[in-house]
Amino acid sequence: MVEGWLFLCIEGNMLQGKKIVLGITGSIAAYKSCLIIRQLIKKGAEVQVVITPAGKEFITPITLSALTSKPVISEFFSQRDGTWHSHVDLGLWADAMLIAPATASTIGKMAHGVADNMLITTYLSMKAPVFIAPAMDLDMYAHPSTQQNLQTLQSYGNHIIEPGTGFLASKLEGKGRMEEPENIVACLESFFSQHESMKGKKVLITAGPTYEKIDPVRFIGNYSSGKMGFALANECANRGAEVELVCGPVSTSMQVKHPLIHRVDVESAKEMYEACMSLYPSMDSAILCAAVADYAPETVAEQKVKRTGDDLVIRLKPNPDIAASLGQIKRDGQTLVGFALETNDEETNAQAKLKKKNFDFIVLNSLKDEGAGFRTDTNKITILTADGKQEYPLKMKAEVAKDIVDALERMSVK
Ligand code: PMT
Repeated sequence: MVEGWLFLCIEGNMLQGKKIVLGITGSIAAYKSCLIIRQLIKKGAEVQVVITPAGKEFITPITLSALTSKPVISEFFSQRDGTWHSHVDLGLWADAMLIAPATASTIGKMAHGVADNMLITTYLSMKAPVFIAPAMDLDMYAHPSTQQNLQTLQSYGNHIIEPGTGFLASKLEGKGRMEEPENIVACLESFFSQHESMKGKKVLITAGPTYEKIDPVRFIGNYSSGKMGFALANECANRGAEVELVCGPVSTSMQVKHPLIHRVDVESAKEMYEACMSLYPSMDSAILCAAVADYAPETVAEQKVKRTGDDLVIRLKPNPDIAASLGQIKRDGQTLVGFALETNDEETNAQAKLKKKNFDFIVLNSLKDEGAGFRTDTNKITILTADGKQEYPLKMKAEVAKDIVDALERMSVK
């Protein structure tokens, strides 16, 4: 269950000098925030508390301010002198935001942008990575709306810290109880230690589907949501890499928040090809996760095609193969990673693509596996190289992205 974060051996003090915004909400676990603050400060971090009105019912701002040596922020204006507390400044100041404990109510508001208190506005303005430690009873935690909200937050690149796992598990096994303070702090340390691992590297990632126009109202497309590609972009950026995320038409709910991710929106395979060919020469690696249409209509009708009684024949021509083209221009020191989405003869087909497209490794996912592939929040992958393979269990796409980026990092140092 543990994905190697909590129990990583961390050398050096990763929290020294780090600025942490600690969000506290109305849960009985709020008393544990004091232990979190004490440990963060002991490790050299600076802590600014932002507390919700309900949070103050469980722990007093005086205690928190004594521990952090800073006034606690709760309202938009200071009651004493009317000073305006800027959530935007806090968003720029912080190296990380940790919300512990995070109640179901706050998690719901964060997922839906309900900015009715200082903590939520701070979260929405946050430029730094955000860590969320849920705290509630099991029924509330297990409710589909809570689970959906947590998955939404995770898809935005936020890190969910669950009891016993360190991060959001693929199955509902956590009990809703907040993770212990020392493990929460260990998650942050682990994050900052990995955060540096891709610093200075540039990664091109493709995500989502492509749309191939038939006429002004119709297209040939596929079911890719972009979730897998966005998870990869977040993971690389979290490790300090600069990411060029070239994505096809995905839902407006698919947003990137990380400042190291630069998003390039395209529609067709041809547009994706052009963006990738111009970006790849200056990249260290590329991960091609997009589901690219192999064919496009030979001509695009200028007017909406009208219904007649006859069969409609649309002639298709092959699109450029982006992966194969990048494989041809790949230079020494560059890494190229591909995906294979298969329905049959999975490994044979993936091995053929690995070779043909000059990938360093290929990530196989099969539509035969429940919970894998298009649109799901989970995926089940096998990583294949020319001389070996590693199978992984079904996991959340954010966790799958960690496995893929770990493999990329191992490959890049060879
Ligand atoms: O977006 P999600 O809903 O999260 O779903 C994720 C996913 C299922 C789309 C993803 O995990 C995945 O499998 N992506 C690759 C899908 C695919 O098109 O596979 P393929 O076997 O057809 O292509 C092989 C490789 O060549 C892929 O890396 C693809 O990006 C690339 N390719 C394919 C065709 C083409 N013209 N140009 C390409 O670069």
